[in-house]
Amino acid sequence: MIHMCGTDYYYRHMPLLAEKLDEIVPVPSPTRTHFANSGTEAVETALKLAMHATGREKFIAFFNSFHGRTLGSLSLTSSKAAQRLGFKRQALDVVHVPYPNEFRNPFNATDCGDGGASQGALNWIEERLFKTTTPPEEVAAIVVEAVQGEGGYVPAPKDFLKGLRRICDAHGILLVVDEVQSGMGRTGKMFACEHYGVKADIVCIAKGIGSGLPIGVCVSRADLMDWKPGAHASTFGGNPVCIAAALKTIELLEGGLVRNSAEVGAYLKGGLEKLQKKYDCIGDVRGMGLMIGVEFVEDRPSLKPAPDLRDRIEVACFERGLIILGAGANSIRWSPPLILTKENVDVALEIFDEAIMASI
Ligand SMILES: Cc1ncc(COP(=O)(O)O)c(C=O)c1O
Repeated sequence: MIHMCGTDYYYRHMPLLAEKLDEIVPVPSPTRTHFANSGTEAVETALKLAMHATGREKFIAFFNSFHGRTLGSLSLTSSKAAQRLGFKRQALDVVHVPYPNEFRNPFNATDCGDGGASQGALNWIEERLFKTTTPPEEVAAIVVEAVQGEGGYVPAPKDFLKGLRRICDAHGILLVVDEVQSGMGRTGKMFACEHYGVKADIVCIAKGIGSGLPIGVCVSRADLMDWKPGAHASTFGGNPVCIAAALKTIELLEGGLVRNSAEVGAYLKGGLEKLQKKYDCIGDVRGMGLMIGVEFVEDRPSLKPAPDLRDRIEVACFERGLIILGAGANSIRWSPPLILTKENVDVALEIFDEAIMASI
């Protein structure tokens, strides 16, 4: 069966997947789930739900974030001006905060106190936004990527999500974690949130969950998703083929691919760190599991971003048979299939090494 429209009919695999997600998603059980067709739709669901559940309409998001390109999610997205140019004003009332990038801390010493970039971002929210433009009692949700994806493969600092959780709890704000890119085993745990020991109120999932088939999922605390039938729905969302793909994907992830992501990811990261010692143009190697960012700079003393060099290396890799992709202005993302072996890594690192050598 290809299609049945979950808005009007039932099909047992749909609740089966929702039950499975209730077990594994970092949202306190019981949860409710909405099935859509893409990441951006999962985010739209989260935004609508946050407004519906809180009766508030402001959002806090982060610079360099990517949450999708439909009008609601585009109001959050802030990784490249090209994504917004021509589309006029933001559809939603979103205020952006610098993301606590530990390699390029955007905050000054006064913002940070002793707590580094993480404290800088938390102080920015509490001391600047809440006291000036954005009263906390009007904020529906804070939307965050645990590891910024399009923004350059930048993991949040260790204690940052806990800090956001504390702020949200203090003010009745919902914490929405976008795991569209970082979820489903990508970081060596099922969800990136798990590295931070934090549970969200709402989690958005897409990409990896369908192993290539189009499915987006928004999982929320059950008490929040109490909207009436008809409030939100999708004709193709959760069609039987994609649900079957997601169920099988989770089985494979639990059967070993999450572990593989952690093990082979650590091996890959070790190899990239060795290359960092060899090349002055590698400013930073960061990430978890098979979600690793390599940031290129002109040289290590200056740490000046080297976007052209990054582009040349990307092409040089392609010409040698290694497909990688940029992320952010001057980083390369390593986001390989989770079935990757250490032997594959050896080949990839050899090509990467050659490509850097040929490009500098
Ligand atoms: C973190 C994150 N959220 C949302 C999206 C949007 O997903 P889609 O392209 O499936 O709409 C993306 C896509 O890159 C993403 O990385």
